[in-house]
Amino acid sequence: MTGSSGLLGRILVNLLKNDYEVIGIDKYVLTNEPDALALDITQTPGALDSMVKLRPSVVVHTAAETNVDLCETDHARARMINVEGTANVAEACAKSGARMVFISTDYVFDGTKGNYSEADQPNPISYYGHSKLEAERIVMSKLPNALILRTSVLYGWHPSKLNFATWVSGGYVNVRPSGWSRITSIRPLLLTTLRRRSVQRSSGTAVAYST
Ligand SMILES: NC(=O)c1ccc[n+]([C@@H]2O[C@H](COP(=O)([O-])OP(=O)(O)OC[C@H]3O[C@@H](n4cnc5c(N)ncnc54)[C@H](OP(=O)(O)O)[C@@H]3O)[C@@H](O)[C@H]2O)c1
Repeated sequence: MTGSSGLLGRILVNLLKNDYEVIGIDKYVLTNEPDALALDITQTPGALDSMVKLRPSVVVHTAAETNVDLCETDHARARMINVEGTANVAEACAKSGARMVFISTDYVFDGTKGNYSEADQPNPISYYGHSKLEAERIVMSKLPNALILRTSVLYGWHPSKLNFATWVSGGYVNVRPSGWSRITSIRPLLLTTLRRRSVQRSSGTAVAYST
């Protein structure tokens, strides 16, 4: 689980670890994650060799630069983490034979239509959305059996990370799809989608839009 100390990754690790051997990967390992690996996904693929050595069967890639406003002002940083970091994780999955589950976003759409399905054409209007779409395309090109999960606004509690409500209440949100986002609870996201579609499904590329 990359991004294992993040809003989504932290909850997924706690939910999955009862049934699976789960190893968290993050830039810095927290003291309450004794089994986690400290890895910066933006380093060259060689830096992810320790992940390859673990021979994971599934890699859930949640790590990202998720600050949409920061992505708009610092394209280089957004690209480094969201595009090149994801490409490195995909490369490590290819080397280890792991199935990659890439957590993407409804920001790949422009928000004019709403109620999107997997069949709708992406048309990002923010740099964050562009970076996640470019990453999706790299994942699909490298890994024929990857699962890309485009989720919408997540809600859940984290001691230090912002969720959508705390982010909006902290100031004006400059960049967002123009349509109203759906809100996705992290628990159902895992239980109804991740488990069923990523862990049990063993072959074929898929893009899923989960709310
Ligand atoms: N939150 C939402 O409402 C939402 C909605 C749709 C889609 N998504 C997608 O869902 C995924 C998870 O989102 P989230 O809200 O859980 O994100 P988050 O709380 O911001 O967590 C992101 C995680 O990625 C880690 N990370 C960042 N750069 C890294 C690097 N270079 N190397 C290794 N780890 C790195 C962060 O570590 P540090 O904290 O140490 O930087 C953090 O643990 C993302 O891919 C996001 O695009 C989120």
